[in-house]
Amino acid sequence: MTVSIKLLTAGAVGMAIAFSGLSAVAQDAGDYAVTDEAELYFSGAPNNPTEPWLLAAGGRIYDNWWEALDKPEPQYFTHPSYPAEGKASGAETWRCKECHGWDYKGVSGVYRSGSHYTGIIGIEGAAGRDVAEISAMMRDSVHGYTEEMINDEEMERLAAFVSRGQIDMSQYIDLATREITGGNVDRGREVFQTICSACHGFDGRKLNWGDPGEDAFVATEAVAAPDEVLNKILNAHPGVEMVNLRAFGTELAADVLRYASTLPQE
Ligand code: HEC
Ligand code: HEC
Repeated sequence: MTVSIKLLTAGAVGMAIAFSGLSAVAQDAGDYAVTDEAELYFSGAPNNPTEPWLLAAGGRIYDNWWEALDKPEPQYFTHPSYPAEGKASGAETWRCKECHGWDYKGVSGVYRSGSHYTGIIGIEGAAGRDVAEISAMMRDSVHGYTEEMINDEEMERLAAFVSRGQIDMSQYIDLATREITGGNVDRGREVFQTICSACHGFDGRKLNWGDPGEDAFVATEAVAAPDEVLNKILNAHPGVEMVNLRAFGTELAADVLRYASTLPQE
């Protein structure tokens, strides 16, 4: 497959930065003032990166690389590999998750149908594959991610996640109905009350990222898109100062998902 990727010129990059600044304010109902220190925490790297840090950082790039890495959002064009029959367009089509799914299973997972359908395979087949090989693939003509978008060091984080950070969500979520089928609600309550509540409140309603008149709390999303929320619990939400549970294992993350789904949705 040959595709041509339009590179942003220096001028366009400047504009892109200005525009992404504007759109970040317009999109974010919560409108977080992000300090330099917060930015170092979510887009920087520690001196001695551990495996859990690496996998969570890579998972946030998979979710939304420009938010995760504090880079300008790709402007004006849809990813050349995004299928014409797909319903998304523009920057969204540059997110790994848009083509490969929150459950990493692409067309054989949650995105087998519905508004995010693309017919594209998942990334499961790349689990265990060599990190250098995965990184190189991201620069090929199918993917076309430039160094300005994701640099080599950041690409290694992403590739580590693809190779060693994927989990099998079908153990906790029915990927046909999106119902939560696993997780220990009592254990999840312990973690939510002691960790998540610091920012989301005991009932999960302190932060609301919904549009006016349409609430989006932790529970709203845990029920509607548990695959997305499990990904966020393991890796954190990109571009904000949120903690992640990667160091504590998948089981605990599923427990928190289960409990979160019992909280008020509006
Ligand atoms: C616009 C859609 C699109 C986006 C966005 C996208 N991919 Fe892909 N990806 C594809 C297609 C199409 C294939 C299959 C290519 C083929 O069959 O040769 C693929 C294949 C892959 C594979 C190989 C899977 C296997 O089993 O061999 C991996 C790994 C992968 N992508 C990772 C990523 C990552 C990581 C990102 C984000 C940085 C990403 N992709 C973003 C379309 C996309
Ligand atoms: C230090 C503060 C902090 C902690 C602790 C925290 N979060 Fe968050 N979380 C945030 C912020 C800030 C956002 C961004 C909300 C927005 O986009 O408006 C967020 C977003 C989210 C989102 C939604 C992302 C989206 O927009 O799709 C979910 C789900 C979530 N958090 C779950 C959790 C869970 C579960 C825990 C406990 C394991 C947790 N958070 C702990 C700060 C935190």
